[in-house]
Amino acid sequence: MKIGVAYYPEHWPEERWSVDARMMREMGIDVVRMGEFAWSLLEPKRERFEMDWLEGAVEVLAEQGLTVILCTPTAAPPGWLFQRHPGMLPEDADGRRWHVGSRRHVCLNKPAYLKYARRIVTELAKRFGRNPHIYAWQVDNELGCHASGVCYCGACELALHHWLKRRYGTVERSNLKWGTAFWSQRFSDWQEVSAPRRTPAGPHPSLALDYQRFVSATYRSFLAEQREIIKQYASRDVIVTTNSAGPLSLAHINHFSLASAQDVAALDNYPADASRLEETALNLDLTRSLKRKPFWVLEQQAGATLLAGHASQPRPGQLRLWSYGAAARGAELISYFRWRTCNFGQEMHWYGILDADGTPRRRFAELKQTISELKERAQLWEGRLPQADVALLVDYDSAWALGATPLGLKLDYFAHLRTLYELLRGIGVQVDFVPPGGELADTRVLVVPMPFICTEQLAKQLEVYTYEGHRVLVTAPAGYKTQENTAAEGSPPNALTDLLGVEVVEHDVLGPDGANAVVLGEGGQSFPTGRFCSVIELRGAKAIGTYGGEFYAGSPAITSRAVGQGEAYFVGPTCVRECYGAILRRVLKEAGVRTCEWSSASVEVVPLKGSSDEQQIFVLNHSPEPVTLALPEGSSCKEMLTDRECSGTVTLQGYDVALLSM
Ligand code: GAL
Ligand code: ZN
Repeated sequence: MKIGVAYYPEHWPEERWSVDARMMREMGIDVVRMGEFAWSLLEPKRERFEMDWLEGAVEVLAEQGLTVILCTPTAAPPGWLFQRHPGMLPEDADGRRWHVGSRRHVCLNKPAYLKYARRIVTELAKRFGRNPHIYAWQVDNELGCHASGVCYCGACELALHHWLKRRYGTVERSNLKWGTAFWSQRFSDWQEVSAPRRTPAGPHPSLALDYQRFVSATYRSFLAEQREIIKQYASRDVIVTTNSAGPLSLAHINHFSLASAQDVAALDNYPADASRLEETALNLDLTRSLKRKPFWVLEQQAGATLLAGHASQPRPGQLRLWSYGAAARGAELISYFRWRTCNFGQEMHWYGILDADGTPRRRFAELKQTISELKERAQLWEGRLPQADVALLVDYDSAWALGATPLGLKLDYFAHLRTLYELLRGIGVQVDFVPPGGELADTRVLVVPMPFICTEQLAKQLEVYTYEGHRVLVTAPAGYKTQENTAAEGSPPNALTDLLGVEVVEHDVLGPDGANAVVLGEGGQSFPTGRFCSVIELRGAKAIGTYGGEFYAGSPAITSRAVGQGEAYFVGPTCVRECYGAILRRVLKEAGVRTCEWSSASVEVVPLKGSSDEQQIFVLNHSPEPVTLALPEGSSCKEMLTDRECSGTVTLQGYDVALLSM
């Protein structure tokens, strides 16, 4: 386990650096992450590079045995560059330019910006590439975050044209694939294609989807290019990564594809308060899933932030709890944000480990203790990632196509994914996320939310998986669109028809006051549906739930079909949370997936991989109150962190954590 901290030597007098370095070492820190916003100090004038101060800081830290994660400073270009090239500022969908004086106010497709970005990265890589104290590199900072994350400017448009040309080859082919005969949108030259800015009746759905792909590809290639420069001057095997602001909220970047240009997946983690438990857990699980390997937390909350809308300081115990939470889900490096609270600038009330006056107080003491515990005990869980019996498919194409296509109403793919994740987490089921085509080994159930676009390859993968004895649960809407977001040829679920054994003959969208119900099983429970209802005819499946109302009352709403050794399920309507919960429980039971009653809104459980005769589970209590958990009848267990035997029950104090071996 490695521990890091974000440090800004440029914020403090040089005489202070050695004081900080000593305190960092005393605290147990190994790596110091710095440089990500220092461009105007590293290149104060065009092509005048001043890097001695940064090298000096690296040396001061190295004297205390600390190494450095050096960041490229491209998220905050210097003022002189904007003076010279004001056109670098990004534009929103209204064509309004963002202004200077903050960060992330730059378009990643502007040639002038790219030229200067390459240059500063090259200079940094030349100067520090071979420096023995550099442990790893971070490219930029939180690519794609803030409202400027999607740009609609002329340079983006031009880059889009090149992207389209690479994807479709000829103008004619893209006209055909998109269906530009509609509303006279046929184009005879790529130049006629504009970015999907604000229009009176919305953009063409194919353009809207391709633009999302293009935006995501822009971020990936920006990262890949910097990584290549760094590797050229450092060594091929130097670790280069970037810090995601949290994949769930950055849905305009395909994080699986971004991770393919990273040596290790990484995110920033701000649990803020218990209200963010689900989101935090999801982001950590998703980040681990990107490379199916341990990952890095490049910023881990060390003090109050404004994320919950107000900056409350973490309660005693929470910093420790959140650190264990990241480690439990697979973090092998945790770097706290930030060393010292700022005395100036936009983030004076986003607190660091030290207070602004430089004094170590409560947070310092708690983290110091946490770090020493984590280091001492990490061998108990290192090399054992969470054991996921269930996989959740994440398909950015479907998410983007749904967002771009009003299907009678707006369906939010990521909100739905989050609901399913929360329901699973709530009953103690650990998940991995997989992209289409991703590795499914070790899992028993695959949940496929809203595969609006379902390719033949994905359908094939699901068929093989089911045939081999697993369970697949697909939720509507499924199989509506081609990869260009035009209607797929047959009726939904198209490529999934054989697997699911159903045909969706039409779909009903209930008005805001409309109501329908789904009845599970013979005389079973009844739940209200959501507003989207697939009207289903069976083609080999059997109904396990039927509609309660409307002109399709009594017809199948939820179906299942035995395929080979496995079973494929389809949920035709959008459902209320409780209904998805009931369906998931049924599928998990049939699949023999273990749930855990300890899990709740404030208790997090993370089972780790291990041998079949011994199970290890992290249990984290996010409540300030103690919680007592009953062990299964007659069983006992060992709490590994404190080396205690427990029998009958296990009690966790408020904000405490346990690692149980049972
Ligand atoms: C992160 C960002 C940091 C800092 C921090 C404040 O999202 O990467 O630079 O702004 O939030 O908590
Ligand atoms: Zn742009």
